[in-house]
Amino acid sequence: MPEQSWMIYGAYGFTGQRIVDYALARGHRPVLAGRSKEKTQCLAERYGLDWISVDLEQHSELVSAIRQVRLVVHSAGPFIQTAPPMIQACLDAGVNYIDITGEIPVVQFTFAHNREAKRREILLLSGAGFDVITSDCLAKQLSLRAPDTRELEIIAATDGRLSSGTIHSALEILSYGGRVRRHGKLVAVPLGKGGQKFRFAGQERFAIPVPRCDLETVYQSTGIPNITSYLALPFTGVDRIPQLLPALFTALSIKPLRKLARILANLVLPRPDASNLSSGAAYICARSTNVYGNQTQAVLETTEPYRFTAGAVVRAVERIMETKPVGAMTPSQALGHDFILEVDETRMLEMGADLAPPGELS
Ligand SMILES: NC(=O)c1ccc[n+]([C@@H]2O[C@H](COP(=O)([O-])OP(=O)(O)OC[C@H]3O[C@@H](n4cnc5c(N)ncnc54)[C@H](OP(=O)(O)O)[C@@H]3O)[C@@H](O)[C@H]2O)c1
Repeated sequence: MPEQSWMIYGAYGFTGQRIVDYALARGHRPVLAGRSKEKTQCLAERYGLDWISVDLEQHSELVSAIRQVRLVVHSAGPFIQTAPPMIQACLDAGVNYIDITGEIPVVQFTFAHNREAKRREILLLSGAGFDVITSDCLAKQLSLRAPDTRELEIIAATDGRLSSGTIHSALEILSYGGRVRRHGKLVAVPLGKGGQKFRFAGQERFAIPVPRCDLETVYQSTGIPNITSYLALPFTGVDRIPQLLPALFTALSIKPLRKLARILANLVLPRPDASNLSSGAAYICARSTNVYGNQTQAVLETTEPYRFTAGAVVRAVERIMETKPVGAMTPSQALGHDFILEVDETRMLEMGADLAPPGELS
């Protein structure tokens, strides 16, 4: 088996295809995999790559398939359904695992297998996509600047364009209800409540707390006991009707309404396209507060999130093949907290800027 061989499962999905394109541009020849024989074969033949079609439920076939490689990149979500069988297969085959989840239960599942991963001498890395890798590395950098941080707010701001796979996964995540981390524990909160305005990267954005898996990864990486993860809304006006969001999110806990919301979201929400993939930008802000109430802020600018994810995943594969980390790790633990700045066109806009006390803001 070639030392550098790796596989991408879910290769023909929207994000999977971006990863394949980026991998080819950097000279890789990944094995393409997915559950549909037709779609996997069609994509592989276009690029002259090896391929395999296997269902995640066929455990022994899956283990045989991934034994051909050193590492699996898993890009087929929702990961709450797809990660457990793939992680188990990677443990059984002794093959490194990376996914791009944003789902809290998936990261918890991954960390629950830390001891087994160490015994098998493999890496389990959940959350190597835009929203987790950026917040994890940025929060780690900020925590080293401000080691007395008691509270951290993380705000992600994108143009709001989502693939259908992300819409599906996001609605599943939201249906579990809101979460924040308080005194080291994950605490349930009503979804849609607690929205506020943040100012960074020259803009003011209204953002709401979301149950994203950086509540888990950033805690693992930094030990900061109080963390809230926000999503800046890509539209305005909601801040004027704050009661609307909790009502909308409550509806998502009802399965048929969630299905309806998925259909509507797929019809209404704009998709990433060639133009914004090549020229779009996204921002992650991390704001720390220490015991005296002093606030410090860091802001990162990246390319469009799906493009960033493709670049980050391929560079993560390269880093892992080189450094061979072992165990269940967060992105900053496995790759180093400076890793994000190695991803194309990512730059730090602010690092460690002291903020005026809230009362002094206009
Ligand atoms: N963390 C991040 O920043 C980030 C960034 C990008 C994407 N993501 C996540 O990555 C996932 C994929 O996104 P996408 O944009 O590529 O969506 P997509 O275009 O809808 O692709 C989803 C892929 O998953 C496969 N799949 C779904 N359920 C499966 C199952 N049970 N068994 C095997 N394959 C299955 C689909 O195969 P079929 O066509 O055969 O159904 C398809 O290949 C989503 O969960 C999304 O949230 C995260």
